[in-house]
Amino acid sequence: MKPVHVGLLGLGTVGGGTFNVLNRNNEEITRRAGRGIRITHAAAREYDAARLPGLDAIQVCDDAFAVVDNPDIDIVVELIGGFEPARELVLKAIANGKHVVTANKALIAKHGNEIFAAAQKKGVMVAFEAAVAGGIPIIKAIREGLSANQIQWLAGIINGTGNFILTEMRDKGRDFSDVLKEAQELGYAEADPTFDVEGIDAAHKLTILASIAFGIPLQFDKVYTEGISKISREDVNYAGEFGYRIKHLGFTRRTDQGIEMRVHPTLIPERRLIANVDGVMNAVLVNADAVGPTLYYGAGAGAEPTASAVVADIIDVARTLTSDPQNRVPHLAFQPGSISDIPILAMEEVYTAYYLRMQVADKPGVMADVTRIIGDAGISIEAILQKEPAPDADKASIILLTHVVQERQMNAAIAKIEALDSIFGAVTRIRLEHLSVT
Ligand code: HSE
Repeated sequence: MKPVHVGLLGLGTVGGGTFNVLNRNNEEITRRAGRGIRITHAAAREYDAARLPGLDAIQVCDDAFAVVDNPDIDIVVELIGGFEPARELVLKAIANGKHVVTANKALIAKHGNEIFAAAQKKGVMVAFEAAVAGGIPIIKAIREGLSANQIQWLAGIINGTGNFILTEMRDKGRDFSDVLKEAQELGYAEADPTFDVEGIDAAHKLTILASIAFGIPLQFDKVYTEGISKISREDVNYAGEFGYRIKHLGFTRRTDQGIEMRVHPTLIPERRLIANVDGVMNAVLVNADAVGPTLYYGAGAGAEPTASAVVADIIDVARTLTSDPQNRVPHLAFQPGSISDIPILAMEEVYTAYYLRMQVADKPGVMADVTRIIGDAGISIEAILQKEPAPDADKASIILLTHVVQERQMNAAIAKIEALDSIFGAVTRIRLEHLSVT
């Protein structure tokens, strides 16, 4: 059978990894795919040929549109990242009747509805396994492996850079900026690292996971997003004293009122497996009605782990090239005509537990004032701790954990606490999820 011809757009970290994995494992990949898969063309402005043995055997140019328009290419692999020209290239490739593989989570989260509609109309596939959690085959697991289930919620550590930073801060007491620099040097961080530390990258990935878990359109703009840049070593240490770890979590849950989609730092009981996922590793915990909890763990970033997912998608596409488009696995797991418009809940509607830390005047009655406000708001306290002032300081810290309450109620209570004369500055609030599966 004629080999499948692949055109690679981008030869950076993931593009280079894809080129090398596909070449190195080509014989075994051919045995798996049932036909040869050959990268024949690549487009890249900058690349390091010394890292890409065999590059001289393919045609390399700097015009990605020339690759997309080349009639000899069957599958276009978009590894440029960003919105434009990636969106235009992908839509052009689809219009030209080519299948597309992409690792571009931002593109899928924001423009996926348009891209999948175009692909559906044209009868081509757009595969995006590498867009979420790097090398972990989480899209395939949810879309195919769990397709018998109603998914109830899922929680993911889905940004390797952020997890690497939190882990190094906790374990080695390193500075935020120093660890971020290392993540950039290792090729984990986004081109704009605020995407990692402010939660935008995780929100892109959560958007995709929520869609395939619940059969809803991609709605990036409705994800509540908070990053890790305000997490202090103090909070990491106090969380530890209560038996929790702080992780940057993407969380989505189906409730009777609608779907929660949120990304924020979260206290998780340290006995949970997912609380022990450290460094650049990612994990996604899925709770579904028939199977119960399942946990997926692996490298969430890096050249070859991400290439592993990209190449698996290329193989998948190669295997199903000749199948009837109506009988392929739907892009968003549910048939396009069955995508549901379940509402997405605003953050104020969400129910969760909380960790609160506040700096208070070291004088009688302050603790009573704080606990009265919380009690009057109908919020139940699970644990409370007061830390004495440092020598020569006059401010003490109160740290408390609450039971589950609606965010709206918590906002009102925090506003009242912050209005007390004996409270200094803002109350630090970190959400807490037990991730209990019983
Ligand atoms: N910047 C991303 C991360 C890369 O750190 O997880 C993988 O999507």
